[in-house]
Amino acid sequence: MINKDNITILKMLYNQNDYVSGEHIAEYFNISRMAVNKRIKDLKESFEIEAHTNKGYILKNRDIIRIWEIEDYIKNSSLFSEFIYLNEIDSTNLFIKNNISKLSNGTIVYTEKQVQGRGRLGRSWIDFSKGLKFSILINMKDTPLQKVIPLTLFTGLCMAKALLSFGIDAKIKWPNDIFLNNKKICGILTELTGEVDKTDFIVIGIGLNINGTNIPNELQNIATTIENATKRIYDRTSILIRFLKEFENNIDVFLTDGFIKFKEQYKSLCLNLNKNILINGEKELYCSDIGDNGELICDDNNKKVVIQSGEVSIRF
Ligand code: BTN
Repeated sequence: MINKDNITILKMLYNQNDYVSGEHIAEYFNISRMAVNKRIKDLKESFEIEAHTNKGYILKNRDIIRIWEIEDYIKNSSLFSEFIYLNEIDSTNLFIKNNISKLSNGTIVYTEKQVQGRGRLGRSWIDFSKGLKFSILINMKDTPLQKVIPLTLFTGLCMAKALLSFGIDAKIKWPNDIFLNNKKICGILTELTGEVDKTDFIVIGIGLNINGTNIPNELQNIATTIENATKRIYDRTSILIRFLKEFENNIDVFLTDGFIKFKEQYKSLCLNLNKNILINGEKELYCSDIGDNGELICDDNNKKVVIQSGEVSIRF
């Protein structure tokens, strides 16, 4: 975790966009040059900072999460309470689950490097891009399970809308994968904690591939990054804040009125609609609609089949 003063130093380096002298940092915090060295050393574990004997320090890679901007947003948020920035972790979902008693409702845990990312259906999430990997903790006590289940579709819709606002032609593959040019750029893993029929907390984990073009060979046919698909670099902090706003601005309506309020928006972005799809690699069905709770409605030789969960592949 990065402490408050180090975030301020990072902000100085980012805003200056040139060398910042050690003397200036020492004066600003009223600390010794030795103490400045120590802080820069800590920051170097997470950020590319170069030191020059006469000039001071410079931030070499500016594609960073501007933690101070996220914190400013959270200060005025009625949903989000804390932003925890981790340089490296096994999984942000696991971090929340392991520390749940110490974390407050609305905590966001972000990591720059995830070494054991978890995906849906017991898969792993491979971290190959400079993107976003974060999880949100939401207290869902007293919310009926039926209402909680489509939250994952709602989250996917919020991310797709956030990306659309940057001109990124995001589409949703049911239930909540985001696709760009028919390849996956974002996955969402929602995990519930609590007893059967009673959810206490929900952990929503999101992985979004943004910048970078080195896609592992085994994923090249199915996954991409936004940079790879659009040939443009995007500002990751702006995308994260846009998503948080979208989520926060709509969650109350979702929890009060349910998924039905968002169904038409979801349908307008859903890749599965009006296509033949394969469920769990077995049966081919025609997807004709999305239900009021987000379920897939399919035709099987004029018989209606409702799909609540499972792995769906689309015949593009
Ligand atoms: C999927 O498509 O299978 C879901 C992938 C979810 C990945 C994210 S990255 C942040 C969070 N932490 C995890 O371990 N997984 C989710």
